[in-house]
Amino acid sequence: MIVVISVGGSVLARALDPEKFKSYALALKEISKKNTLFVVTGGGQAARDYIGIARQLGADEATCDLIGIELTRLNARLLIAALDNDAYYEPPLDYKKAKNASLSGKIVVMGGVAPGQTTDAVSAVLAEYTGADLLINATAIDGVYTSDPKKDKDATKFESMTPKQLIEIIIRTEMIAGANSPTDLLAAKIIERSNIKTIVLNGENPQNIIDAVYGEHIGTVIQK
Ligand code: UTP
Repeated sequence: MIVVISVGGSVLARALDPEKFKSYALALKEISKKNTLFVVTGGGQAARDYIGIARQLGADEATCDLIGIELTRLNARLLIAALDNDAYYEPPLDYKKAKNASLSGKIVVMGGVAPGQTTDAVSAVLAEYTGADLLINATAIDGVYTSDPKKDKDATKFESMTPKQLIEIIIRTEMIAGANSPTDLLAAKIIERSNIKTIVLNGENPQNIIDAVYGEHIGTVIQK
């Protein structure tokens, strides 16, 4: 299978910890034994800190995004370091280069590509462009809920849902300031237009990703 994994910065690099990168590297090596693997890393707390400072300095939003992209690429470099010889040696800067890099037979790890989106959207486009069989979004929550479970005690988790339902949930969540969306809207639209089988799961324990790739039902499965 071709598998694309989006690892949220809040999972991989909330606070920088080499053990987290090492445990991810072990899981990804395991998955790559039988699958072609692409990984997109988020920016984590460091990206938020840098963007926060840039805003205080009066930077425009596109500049803030470009700074965020640099941080996602730094996290990609750390994961590449942890993967050592099993990873392509540097994060490709765009989708074409990522596809080419995968011809090396190694795990391709990259960060963001363009302002105005997040790495969720990058992973969805990459899945589309590489004809991936599976897109996994490893986040800080264990699936997609009817509403934010941290704020609504009646929120229930979807075991499965259609891309259309995902889009409806995101639009509803995004209208509430500061709300945590399970994935960004652009990513959901891309998942819908290409009907990419997507799993949103808790990435705190990377074993969840291995289990999902090998067919266990974990998190929320999104498919038409
Ligand atoms: P993330 O993908 O980590 O954003 O990119 P996020 O979803 O806010 O973070 P987590 O997953 O919840 O921790 C960090 C920032 O980098 C910029 C955006 O500003 C984003 O908020 N970015 C990233 C882009 O502008 N374009 C990209 O393609 C990727």
